[in-house]
Amino acid sequence: MFPDDFLLGAATAAYQVEGAVTEDGREPSIWDTFSHTPGAVRDGHTGDVACDHYHRYLEDVELMASIGLRAYRFSVAWPRLADLSFYDRLVDALLAKGIAPVVTLYHWDLPQRLQDRGGWTARETSELFAEYATAVYRRLGDRVHTWTTLNEPWVSAFVGYGSGRHAPGIADPAAAFTAAHNLLRAHGLAVAALRAAGARSVSITLNLTPIHGDPEPATLVDGLANRLFLDPVLKGRYPQDVLRHMSRFVDPAPFEADLPVIAQPIDVLGVNYYTTTEVAAEQGAPGHPEYPGTEGIRFLPPRGPVTEMGWGVVPSGLTELLLRLARDYPGTPLMITENGAAYDDKPDASGAYVDTDRVDFLAAHLRAARDAMDRGVDLRGYFVWSLLDNFEWAHGYHKRFGLVHVDYATQRRTPKLSASWYRDFIATGRLRP
Ligand code: NOJ
Repeated sequence: MFPDDFLLGAATAAYQVEGAVTEDGREPSIWDTFSHTPGAVRDGHTGDVACDHYHRYLEDVELMASIGLRAYRFSVAWPRLADLSFYDRLVDALLAKGIAPVVTLYHWDLPQRLQDRGGWTARETSELFAEYATAVYRRLGDRVHTWTTLNEPWVSAFVGYGSGRHAPGIADPAAAFTAAHNLLRAHGLAVAALRAAGARSVSITLNLTPIHGDPEPATLVDGLANRLFLDPVLKGRYPQDVLRHMSRFVDPAPFEADLPVIAQPIDVLGVNYYTTTEVAAEQGAPGHPEYPGTEGIRFLPPRGPVTEMGWGVVPSGLTELLLRLARDYPGTPLMITENGAAYDDKPDASGAYVDTDRVDFLAAHLRAARDAMDRGVDLRGYFVWSLLDNFEWAHGYHKRFGLVHVDYATQRRTPKLSASWYRDFIATGRLRP
């Protein structure tokens, strides 16, 4: 059983579901530019229409209510700052159904206008983010359960500016480290601004992955993937080994002066967990373009079952991660803000989506979360990624993570077996074997 006030929900993000990219004064974001760049996204898919959630949000809130979601995690699009009335209506519709809104302020859709001035490599972007956060708080603050500043800043920095697989498509390790720092600074400035405006529950969501394998490479990759973000936010310092490594690409000395800004106390840490990472020392191995300076390290393919993303299914990694966070960063409650799986869902003869693989995945991870709680971890909630099939970034619409199937030709929504399974679980609090 999970506690009665345990927040069970599902998540989405603006660019992945909304569409309506030119409506009501929305300005272009880096993902509009990137997805319209030939070759950037598989099959040239874009978020122009996505799930048309901007127009169908009432139907989608009905779906959430029918599943019995206690909370819904969504992001506000910075490019919609000129007119936030959509989010006003969405929040009211959620509250009318008793669903707690959990808001993310930045889920990767930076206004292109700011990218033209350097994006996350420009220091001033952090200040502008805090101003934007304040404006959104003024509009929705009276009704939002938890405020999350950033979603997965590692991805914004190292996939956006490191490998260039995501918008803005830049491949430059120095830019990636600078972006990581400015994102952390943006987080800290926004926490202070939100708090000054009256916010009571403030958070950041990190994508975290236990690193297994040879100790030396595992420590380095853990530094780049996990501690580079955890330590500044929760301990007010950059890890020494990461600083040393970073200095191969960028002078980190000025970063340290910003640590007091970054280390504003937060009320809950959001954790996105999908899989573990296995590394081995191997001479001549090329390393990983999203972990700069990892030449000589091999990133091993998963050993057991994998999802459609090719990610290993490792529920025990979630228990391990939660225990580690509770041990190394005590005192901060945790919330799983994303967990889920892409599978190649096909309808059966009756048109039903019998996604038992996804049900098994979710049940196993909820059990893993429960294990960690039984061992003392202060875990406050769990959100499935995702409510709906949606635009999976560079993979376009090819990867489906939803509890609810979306037929993109008709925008028809069909709840999968996992949706009714989740409904039963929320209603009973019990995981059937
Ligand atoms: C991470 C991101 O926050 C989300 O946008 C993405 O779709 C899922 N995980 C799956 O990759």
